[in-house]
Amino acid sequence: MSFKILQNRFSRLTFLVLLTLSFSFSNSIADTAPAPAAGGSDPAMVADGKNLFEANCTACHAVHKVKVGPALKDVKKRRDIAWIKKFVRGSQNVIKSGDPYAVNLYKQYNNTEMTAFPSFTDKEIESIVAYITEESKNVPQENKAAVGGGVGGSAAPANDYSDLILILTIITLVLVAVTLIVFMTVIRKYLRDREASLDEDDKEIVNQKYSLSAVLKSKIFISIVVVLFTCIAVRSCWVGLMSVGVEQNYAPVQPIPFSHKQHAGDMKIDCGYCHTGVYRGKQANIPGVNICMNCHSQVKEGSRFGKDGIALVIEHYKKNKPVQWVRVHNLPDLAYFNHSQHTVAGGLDCIKCHGQIDSMEVVKQYSNLTMGWCINCHRETAVNGKDNAYYDKLLKVHDEKVAAGIRKGDMKVEHIGGLECSKCHY
Ligand code: HEC
Ligand code: HEC
Ligand code: HEC
Ligand code: HEC
Ligand code: HEC
Ligand code: HEC
Repeated sequence: MSFKILQNRFSRLTFLVLLTLSFSFSNSIADTAPAPAAGGSDPAMVADGKNLFEANCTACHAVHKVKVGPALKDVKKRRDIAWIKKFVRGSQNVIKSGDPYAVNLYKQYNNTEMTAFPSFTDKEIESIVAYITEESKNVPQENKAAVGGGVGGSAAPANDYSDLILILTIITLVLVAVTLIVFMTVIRKYLRDREASLDEDDKEIVNQKYSLSAVLKSKIFISIVVVLFTCIAVRSCWVGLMSVGVEQNYAPVQPIPFSHKQHAGDMKIDCGYCHTGVYRGKQANIPGVNICMNCHSQVKEGSRFGKDGIALVIEHYKKNKPVQWVRVHNLPDLAYFNHSQHTVAGGLDCIKCHGQIDSMEVVKQYSNLTMGWCINCHRETAVNGKDNAYYDKLLKVHDEKVAAGIRKGDMKVEHIGGLECSKCHY
């Protein structure tokens, strides 16, 4: 084979290596998907369990730390699955039956009642336990999440994982490149020893000086580097943007010890009774003391603070002084969010975005409220077709989408423009 062909092959190979290098760079930066579950259990089951756990349990539980309820790390080693099923479906039944472990735990957690989940199937509870077991193997991520400041917590472990892959890929590719260069040098040397038998073209190439500075100055090299860095810059800007956190888990102390658990949970007062705008307009509204006084003109004593707690409400009312509630959720002014669009048109439950408010003594910010959070949900959630005249109108307008087979249930919020910048930004 002529040496020229050989050299062409070589430069193509080097180019490929560089290309792969740049790809693996941008890929691993983009890769925020959760790391696959290591270990024996079924990943689909663990994923189901994770969803159920996050939707129903994280208001009170974490795997590695105590929240309202105990840390659930290794719960399967403490309790058998039959016990866990009974407890999750109705912890009070287990406690009332006199089960010493449950009675003790209940006391230890100041008689806080765990929400009952009577409708959970065996499989659902097993999947939650599978998720907890998987998660128990992981080292807690608290410290790292804290350093990331505001960055949505769940993305952190996946990023660590992809960093590792990135480093391994780079090492491998550098090794491949070094091997190629060594190989090339050996061949050159071999051919130079036999220079006499080569034709003119090949001689010229063999005697070419392989100069590093020429390579560094070459157009191809410079363009690759430029493209590479532009990719990285754009990528990390975007990923950063998607996760500018707005203080997830923020739970400030309020001027009056108002409890959602007591009012919305135990007494089952409807959210819309106090948050009067939530089904009607953009703002949910925080109630004024007038609404509180509908009841507290009669009810003047509470079980937790005696007369002291409610006295604060009455005092504000008498002095006609608004309560200085500390705001928990606060999107920056540049973003537009409308409640009725989500609660009525979208048919979404408050829990989806605010967590189990009706079991919180003190309201905390449950979701991270980043742009990535809004957009992910718009990608995943189907437009609510039921009782939604707006939707039927849309389907008519989008005849071509119907023709293309997009029907109720397939049509995600992104298909009706939920990813357009101007929908959320003034
Ligand atoms: C309203 C808060 C709350 C919610 C929501 C909640 N729990 Fe609990 N959980 C508790 C408390 C408090 C305890 C401690 C026992 C008690 O006080 O009854 C507990 C105890 C437990 C225990 C026993 C832990 C141990 O160490 O033995 C398990 C298991 C458990 N919860 C599972 C779940 C699962 C699964 C979910 C979601 C489907 C869930 N919990 C949702 C508050 C909650
Ligand atoms: C009896 C009246 C009342 C009811 C019922 C009620 N809330 Fe509230 N809510 C308040 C008051 C007062 C505040 C402000 C004080 C605080 O943050 O605890 C508030 C605050 C909130 C906040 C935080 C607002 C902020 O500052 O960002 C959310 C979210 C919320 N409520 C959701 C709900 C949901 C969901 C329900 C129904 C499950 C509900 N509320 C039922 C009175 C009520
Ligand atoms: C629908 C009736 C109703 C409304 C509306 C209502 N409350 Fe209450 N609230 C009660 C009852 C009943 C209790 C006593 C519950 C208990 O201790 O078992 C109570 C208890 C309290 C307590 C004392 C808690 C304790 O354990 O000592 C405070 C503080 C309080 N409410 C604040 C508010 C505020 C602030 C509002 C308005 C945003 C409000 N409530 C609206 C019915 C209501
Ligand atoms: C799709 C997600 C989503 C759903 C569903 C949702 N909220 Fe909100 N909520 C938000 C966001 C985002 C904010 C912050 C808005 C802001 O700062 O402008 C917020 C803020 C609030 C506030 C603070 C006051 C205000 O108007 O900004 C209250 C109170 C509230 N929500 C109550 C509710 C209640 C009650 C429900 C259920 C009926 C509900 N939310 C359903 C996302 C949601
Ligand atoms: C839990 C899921 C969920 C989250 C989180 C969510 N949305 Fe939505 N959003 C929806 C659904 C569902 C609709 C469709 C409502 C309908 O059927 O018209 C919607 C519609 C919208 C629309 C109207 C889109 C259109 O083309 O008409 C805007 C604007 C919007 N959302 C803004 C936001 C913003 C801003 C955030 C974050 C602060 C957010 N949403 C978070 C589910 C969500
Ligand atoms: C579904 C709603 C939604 C859509 C669509 C959306 N954004 Fe955002 N965006 C938000 C929210 C909410 C925030 C504020 C969250 C935060 O600061 O973390 C935000 C923040 C931003 C910021 C950051 C401002 C700052 O102070 O950090 C920029 C820039 C931005 N968006 C640009 C865009 C562009 C460009 C597009 C179109 C490609 C877009 N957004 C589409 C909801 C949306």
